[in-house]
Amino acid sequence: MDSKKKIGILTGGGDCPGLNAAIRATAKTAIKSGYEVTGINHGWSGFFEDDYEILDRYRTSGIIDRGGTILGTSRLSPFQVENGPQRVFDEFQRLGLKALVVVGGEGTLSATNRMSQMGLPVVGIPKTIDNDVAGTNFTIGFQTAVQIATDALDRLRSTAESHHRVMLLEVMGRHTGWIATYAGMANGADAILIPEIPLDKGKVEELCQMLKKRNQKGVTFSVVVVAEGTEVEGKTIQRPNPDIAGKTDTPILGGVGNVIGGIIEDKTGLETRVTTLGYVQRGGIPVAYDRSLATAFGVKAVELIEEGKYGEMTALRGNRIVSVPLEKVAGKTKLVNLNIYRVAEIFFG
Ligand code: F6P
Repeated sequence: MDSKKKIGILTGGGDCPGLNAAIRATAKTAIKSGYEVTGINHGWSGFFEDDYEILDRYRTSGIIDRGGTILGTSRLSPFQVENGPQRVFDEFQRLGLKALVVVGGEGTLSATNRMSQMGLPVVGIPKTIDNDVAGTNFTIGFQTAVQIATDALDRLRSTAESHHRVMLLEVMGRHTGWIATYAGMANGADAILIPEIPLDKGKVEELCQMLKKRNQKGVTFSVVVVAEGTEVEGKTIQRPNPDIAGKTDTPILGGVGNVIGGIIEDKTGLETRVTTLGYVQRGGIPVAYDRSLATAFGVKAVELIEEGKYGEMTALRGNRIVSVPLEKVAGKTKLVNLNIYRVAEIFFG
């Protein structure tokens, strides 16, 4: 087959709902345009382990609603492997690929940008439950995580009311509070704590006063949501990542819920319970929105390849699917729009 009619696709970074919908859309659209599609398994690792598979229309059928990624994923970047970029170029040539589609979050897309600058013809698709990728309103996976976190908050309110407790939910999001803000707003949470607004001593005091006041006024339950990356009195709760220790600066975040829960209980005397939602918010079937977004991004990715527009990432701007240069996205973190947070804040307390 003519080398110009082959493309590759990989998924990198943490899994999230909607990845399979993106793989399906990219593969089926490309196949319709006459391409053969090769899946690179386990993220960039596939290039180093000679681990590929052909994605025909049958392999990519019936997966639009499936969580995770049929290709597998990893956080490995070519820049963590000796001679990694050159080996990727060699494999790319050997496979006869015309272009590579990389579905990834901020870390994976930054590595993709570097590969692009070295001459690899790539197109990025943004995914992550964290929604922290610059240049796009939403990433694949975010809306599903928000729905799961909202469901959890709704359920926690039952126990908060029945037992007259403060129920605190810790959600993911790395150094941003997108999931916490959207889920907290949808639930009508009494407080939403996010990394964009660090909890200094004054803010901790304010939070405790608010919870006490609610109680004194006869509202004997409260629901609080905290994003894992929220700083409390100058400290982010994190630990080294054993899988990739020494290779990247990506620690595991988490534990801030217990820290804040302890402070609330000490300072207010209100019975407080903490739940950490963890990986539940990253798994399972994607909501309709993520499936549609993933489908639109997959179609756009193939369009970009057809136009020879490499080094771009598919993006959502308003209700339009567009593309943005990867170099404008790489190394950036999209923080929560505080105008949205202020809307949720109206209902605190
Ligand atoms: O980026 C998605 C995410 O789930 C973050 O919210 C979380 O901090 C991180 O990944 C966890 O990563 P890992 O799967 O490596 O534990």
